[in-house]
Amino acid sequence: MPIIRHAMPGDLPALIRLESACFPPAEAATKEALSARLAAYPNHFWLLFPDSSCGEEATLVSFVDGFCTNCADLEDWMYEDATGHDESGRWQMIFGVNTHPAYRRRGFAGALLRTAIEEARTDGRAGLVLTCKQALIPWYASFGFACEGLSASVHGAVSWYQMRLTF
Ligand SMILES: CC(C)(COP(=O)(O)OP(=O)(O)OC[C@H]1O[C@@H](n2cnc3c(N)ncnc32)[C@H](O)[C@@H]1OP(=O)(O)O)[C@@H](O)C(=O)NCCC(=O)NCCS
Repeated sequence: MPIIRHAMPGDLPALIRLESACFPPAEAATKEALSARLAAYPNHFWLLFPDSSCGEEATLVSFVDGFCTNCADLEDWMYEDATGHDESGRWQMIFGVNTHPAYRRRGFAGALLRTAIEEARTDGRAGLVLTCKQALIPWYASFGFACEGLSASVHGAVSWYQMRLTF
C-alpha cells in the first residue's frame, strides 16, 4: 500500500531530484525555492512512497505542494516566495503536482490531490487553486476544479490555465 505523508526537512534531496525528473529547467522549482517552501510549510507538502514492505522507507515517487493565502488567485511570485504562506489563509494553492515518469498512470498524483483536498476541507479553507497546461484541464476537472481561463502567469514562458475547487 502506498504511504502518503507530509514532508520533513530530510526530504529535500528527494524532492529536488523528483522535481527535476518531472519538469524542464525553465518550469522546475529551483533547489532554493523548494528548500524555502519545505522550511515554511512542510504540512502543505503531500508525499507518496509506493511501498514500505521491507521495513525501510521506499523512494519518493510523487508529491504535491502549495501554500495557503488569502489571495484568491495564483500569482507567479508565490512559487518563489515561501514567506507568503499564511497558515490561516482561505485558499490552498497548489504549486507542484509531480509523479516520477516511471510511476505515472497508477493513480498516485490523484491520491495525493484527494488527500490535499480533504485536508483543505477539514481545515475549513474556501477551496484550492492551481494553474495547469491545457491538456490537464479535464483531469483536474474530474476532482471538482473549475477552469477560470488563462492565468496571468508567464512561468516557464508557456500558457497556464487557472482552476479552482470551491467547497
Ligand atoms: C500530471 C502528472 C502529475 C500525473 O501524475 P500520475 O501519478 O500519473 O497521475 P494519476 O495516475 O493519478 O492520473 C493519471 C491521469 O492524469 C491525466 N493525465 C496525465 N498526463 C496527461 C497528459 N499529458 N495529458 C492529458 N491527461 C493526462 C489522465 O487523465 C490520466 O489518466 P489515464 O491514465 O486514465 O489517461 C504526471 O504526469 C507528471 O508529473 N507530469 C509532469 C509534471 C506536470 O506536468 N505536472 C502537472 C503540473 S500542472
